[in-house]
Amino acid sequence: MTGSHCADLARTRMESRHEALRCRPVLWSHVRSPCSAGLFRLLAFIFVLITSLIFIRSYLSLSMKTIRLPRWLGVVKVKCDLSKPCPDNFFAFKILSGAANVVGPSICFEGHMIMSPVKDNVGRGLNIVLVNGTSGQVLRQASFDMYSGDPELLVKFLKAVPEDVLVLVASYDDPGTKMNNELRKLFSNLGSSYVKQLGFRDSWVFLGARDISNKSPFEQYLKNTPDTNKYEGWPELLEMEGCVPRKVF
Ligand SMILES: *[C@@H]1O[C@H](CO)[C@@H](O)[C@H](O)[C@H]1NC(C)=O
Repeated sequence: MTGSHCADLARTRMESRHEALRCRPVLWSHVRSPCSAGLFRLLAFIFVLITSLIFIRSYLSLSMKTIRLPRWLGVVKVKCDLSKPCPDNFFAFKILSGAANVVGPSICFEGHMIMSPVKDNVGRGLNIVLVNGTSGQVLRQASFDMYSGDPELLVKFLKAVPEDVLVLVASYDDPGTKMNNELRKLFSNLGSSYVKQLGFRDSWVFLGARDISNKSPFEQYLKNTPDTNKYEGWPELLEMEGCVPRKVF
């Protein structure tokens, strides 16, 4: 049985099924050599593809590791995005006053944003957070409208501040119009130096406590002065960050 015979058979459309069946092995033997060469090339191609994929993968994961490592070492997540982390037994905080009457203030404590425009819990006037000075637990948060609100609400709030509690304050728009002597005295007792002069549309950020022995080192104040104001009717916003010692008994 020869190939040409089988080719003839194919041409005569395989008159006999029996003959065709007998020819099949020969036909196969004809295609086997080019086919197995193609198969080998295909296998070689797949082999090269897989090895290069493995190589690229290991190279990428290696280079990813070399990128990730310094990033992981260099940029440690600092609580409240402070410029440097606080030591043990200190609480991290960051207080921003509002920008004019446009952007609300924010108060961050120990890595938690307690009040902010995003949380939608800030308001015109004074924004205040009370924190347990021992545990760091947030006890209360509230905003008091100092332009048209009732200052008695703030008087009540401040008089109810327990001992060993931190008081974090951020102004927004106008903290001064409804400010009265009783309130100035209450804030002075928490360690404020500037509340005495706090007035219409001033910027003020402050952290104090009821049992503070001296004036608080955590306070910033900017007077509303038309000549130097950053915004038309308001001074620049204030940003204060720091580490406040945990009250340890
Ligand atoms: C503050 O936390 C401490 C310790 O957890 C607790 O003993 C104290 O009663 C708390 N004070 C207030 C005012 O919540």
